[in-house]
Amino acid sequence: MNDEKMNVNWYPGHMTKAKRMMQENMILIDLVIEVLDARIPLSSRNPDIDDLAKNKSRIILLNKSDLADPKENKRWMQYFEAKGAHVLEINAKTGVGIKSIRGLVEKACKEKIEKDKKRGIVNRPIRAMVVGIPNVGKSTFINAFAGKACTKTGNKPGVTKGKQWIRVGKNLELLDTPGILWPKFDDKMVGIHLALIGSVNDEILVLEELAMELMECVRELYPGALAERYQIEEDGSLSELLERVAESRKCYGKGEVLDLGKAASILIEDFRNGRMGRMTLEVCQK
Ligand code: G4P
Repeated sequence: MNDEKMNVNWYPGHMTKAKRMMQENMILIDLVIEVLDARIPLSSRNPDIDDLAKNKSRIILLNKSDLADPKENKRWMQYFEAKGAHVLEINAKTGVGIKSIRGLVEKACKEKIEKDKKRGIVNRPIRAMVVGIPNVGKSTFINAFAGKACTKTGNKPGVTKGKQWIRVGKNLELLDTPGILWPKFDDKMVGIHLALIGSVNDEILVLEELAMELMECVRELYPGALAERYQIEEDGSLSELLERVAESRKCYGKGEVLDLGKAASILIEDFRNGRMGRMTLEVCQK
């Protein structure tokens, strides 16, 4: 990876605004639903959320579990559970796992519900906010969970104008806009992971280098996967591998010169769409 490019201080203004909004919204909610990308559960997590959401009930959703390694999904679930979190693996796109969330919400908010009961408050809806870094599937999740049939509850006194709550069943209200966390990548590998799932802007990256980093991870973690997908030998240097993919996919530019940029795009898109197989780039070290 081009270190100079990766060192760009990627903290755009809208992220500062998003953080401020999230801090404001935190006051209004009981529960934070944190969406992670199951392929990179640690890199897709902004550690600042622990501070932002302290004293709130928490649920972690390992989304895009359909694209991640099933064995690793189980291990990561256990990892977060061991840290005291309530965790589920889901596929927001097809709805797999969504039905189990209601039960988990009640578990996560048990204390609050009991406290309310003692005070004579019954059936006060739990208020939740979905948070996560860009592209992990927050909006897809809100749509799948709340569904189109749900009615927006509209503005309420004490709620900043324009804020909309979606009622999900009897006892839960969801803020209709997710809290966007900024990805963090002081660590080079984290930056690479985030780029590979499309969470950081492609403009700050060199595609060929990103594709080579991807092949290095895949060759180590899933030996044989590149050979199978592109019908190439996996040994040799990463630039040789990229050339082989370009040849195998017939990526040629003017004058029959290999178009490595095109080969890199193919590799990255294939990974993003799960066409290389179900892969988790961060192996759980429990
Ligand atoms: P965000 O709000 O967190 O930024 O993410 P968003 O919901 O926009 O989802 C980003 C992309 O990830 C979307 O694809 C969405 O369809 C896809 N996605 C979300 N959840 C899942 C999942 O569990 N599995 C898979 N395979 N994909 C998921 P897109 O390419 O931007 O749009 P589209 O091709 O779906 O139209």
